[in-house]
Parts: sequence; structure tokens; C-alpha cells
Amino acid sequence: MDVRVVDHPLAKARLSTMRDARTNSAAFRAALQELTLMLIYEATRNAEVAVEPIHTPVARTDGYRLANPPLLVPVLRAGLGMADQAHRLIPEAQMGFVGLARDETTLQPTPYLESLPADLSGRPVLVLDPMLATGGSMVHTIRILVERGATDVTAICTLAAPEGVRKLEDSGLPVRIVTASVDERLNESGYIVPGLGDAGDREYGAV
Ligand code: URA
Repeated sequence: MDVRVVDHPLAKARLSTMRDARTNSAAFRAALQELTLMLIYEATRNAEVAVEPIHTPVARTDGYRLANPPLLVPVLRAGLGMADQAHRLIPEAQMGFVGLARDETTLQPTPYLESLPADLSGRPVLVLDPMLATGGSMVHTIRILVERGATDVTAICTLAAPEGVRKLEDSGLPVRIVTASVDERLNESGYIVPGLGDAGDREYGAV
């Protein structure tokens, strides 16, 4: 499994702000947005570029653009806090949405929203979800993408638990992970330790 941990000092600083229980929602969202920029920047490091001639005021030179812009897929609700920043960095990207709720009987993630292009073959996909905890939601999301032909999927997560990384690995799905940290473990309530608490609640306030 390709797991890229972005441990740049600025990423560590923003993640520390997010972890700190004293950080309020506005500051948490701001840190999440800044960290998202760094994660997307790293995730697209090897993106294919197209070269075309451009003219500076002085001379002709090579110009570059993304040859195959990715589809951005925030997973509702917590992934919404990453969507605008990702789009700011890749304005030519399209955005789809996946909404998952937990079925309280089966405890399985159940989709209530799949707003995605029908055909994803040949298209890189960046899934945005701040927390890779058990990995259940991420596996479910990636299956939905693979059913549409995706073969190049990157999970962009501010934090990951080893259990979630293992679950993705065991799934055999075509995915790599870009994260700012792989933390110690999950606790008995399914929270990442040390983690940052419930990302959605911290972004938007508990509802
Ligand atoms: N989801 C969260 O928001 N936080 C966790 O620690 C685990 C899952």
C-alpha cells in the first residue's frame, strides 16, 4: 500500500492546531483548509502534464497544464471542509459528492448521495475525507468509484488510523493514501488516538 505521510513542518503545525481541543470551529476549519492545500499539493506531485508553447513578454517557452485533471470527491459531511481549498488549487477539476450514513441496525455505511459522473475510466480521483478511521466509509466510497471504472484513486485524509490503512490494503482496491499522520490506534468508540475528536463536529459544531 502506497501511504505518503506529509510531515512537512507547516503540515505538522496545522495538524497540531486541529488536534488541540482548545481550537474553535473557525480556527479548526482554517487549519483544515491550509492542510488540505499541502496534502493536495503532494498528492498531485506526479500528475501528468501537457506541454504547450507559450510566449512570455520576452521569449517563447514551454507552458504546462494538468493533462488529465482529477475528479474531486468530498465525502459528506466532514470532507466538505476540504472541498473548496482542493478546488482552489485545481480549478479545472470537476467535483462529485458521496454522502454516507451509518445504518444503525447493520452499522454499515449506507449511501444517501452519489453525485458522480457515470464513467470514471482513465480519470484520477481524489477522495476527500479528513479521517481514515476504521476505513469502512472509505472502502465503500472507493467501491462506488471503481464500479464506475476508476482505477486511480487517492484518499486524502488529514489523519489515518493503522486499522483503516490495513482495511484499505486488505480490500485490494486501487487506492493510495496521502495523509499528515498515521496515528497510534482506534479506541473502543472508534475514535482515532490521539486524533482530533469528531472532525465534522469540530468543523461545524455538534448537531
Ligand atoms: N471520525 C472522526 O471524525 N474522528 C475519529 O476519530 C474517527 C472517525
